[in-house]
Amino acid sequence: MDARVYLDNAATTPAVPEVAAAVSDALLRRFGNPSSPHRWGIEASRVAAEARDVLAGLLGVAAEEILFTSGGTESNNLAIGGVVAARRRAGRRIVTTAIEHSSVLAAAAAFADEVVRLPVDTAGRVAPADVAAAAAVAGTVLVAIGHVNNEVGTVQPLAEIGAALARLPERPVFHVDAVQALGKVPLRPREWGVDTCALSGHKIHGPKGVGALWVRRGVRLVPLLFGGDQQGGLRPGTENVPAIAGFGAAAALCAADPEAAARMCALRERLWEGVADVAVRNGPPPAAAAPHILSVRVPRLPAEVLLHALEERGVACSAGSACHSRRPEPSHVLLALGLPEAAVRSSLRLSLSRLTTAAEIDAAAAAFREAVASLRALVHR
Ligand SMILES: Cc1ncc(COP(=O)(O)O)c(C=O)c1O
Repeated sequence: MDARVYLDNAATTPAVPEVAAAVSDALLRRFGNPSSPHRWGIEASRVAAEARDVLAGLLGVAAEEILFTSGGTESNNLAIGGVVAARRRAGRRIVTTAIEHSSVLAAAAAFADEVVRLPVDTAGRVAPADVAAAAAVAGTVLVAIGHVNNEVGTVQPLAEIGAALARLPERPVFHVDAVQALGKVPLRPREWGVDTCALSGHKIHGPKGVGALWVRRGVRLVPLLFGGDQQGGLRPGTENVPAIAGFGAAAALCAADPEAAARMCALRERLWEGVADVAVRNGPPPAAAAPHILSVRVPRLPAEVLLHALEERGVACSAGSACHSRRPEPSHVLLALGLPEAAVRSSLRLSLSRLTTAAEIDAAAAAFREAVASLRALVHR
């Protein structure tokens, strides 16, 4: 059977024709340097402004507060490194969780003197009271929390965390990695007391290598790069206008598809029902999870073996996150949820996009059951 079903959308998504058209138009026609004062420059800066407006609308923030970057990794680094440098007199302590993406954990380790990685419960949730207690310690300049976890889909209680932080006498800057949240769950960072928020283009059918950082007006950041005064000097360098155009087009398609989350949620449950006879579910209860991620394990079957059997049947998914898939260490996220190492090593992530169809889900579930049955038959021969 060759189903050809791509269920690794949390790793990346294919661009859609509207995105490719926007990129091509910016490359070929609206190609000016956005800093140039002539009409080509003005046209290119309009492209970036349009994309900024769409993203600002999705977040409910002011367009001038959005910076374009090279992706989620840079956005997390700029927020974390930029805040630590700007507040160095106040301290160099960061509070985060044990299940963050490596671009948060590694940046925190690189820029701070002390990093507190808070534990999460078996559903992957961090307790707002724990965040506030850890952030109350003198010298804490930043709290960094992922909105939606990329391996299990846990949605963190950002509004409650923001409210708990607001009660502290010395409120640290509150950074949110919303890379897996955009287009999947409602995002209202300003209302939740968030200060900076990282986004990425390629998780929503936009181009790779482009992202954004929302920086609430008044939050001070020291840039990571130095050069011209593009984007207020906070992110110098000629803007990647074609990629920004594609990101804007992808974000506009998300905004125009308000039913996407409900659709993905229903399809994720259909997928789960299709594999529930042979698999065990990891992570948060479905009602508390982002709609696009299903983490499962087949006891006693190593994830790589099942991954390969699925691949042979035309189904792509991943064991943990894409950035770690070439490394043999078990997922730090699943370990933090309290799963034993053997269970972690049997876990797979299946992830949907707003374009995933019911036919694809049914084909993937059938391939999954067949793969498990044939691998079990091999073992018992
Ligand atoms: C939660 C999360 N944060 C950050 C990133 C990094 O984004 P990018 O690939 O755009 O650098 C990813 C991508 O895997 C992610 O899932």
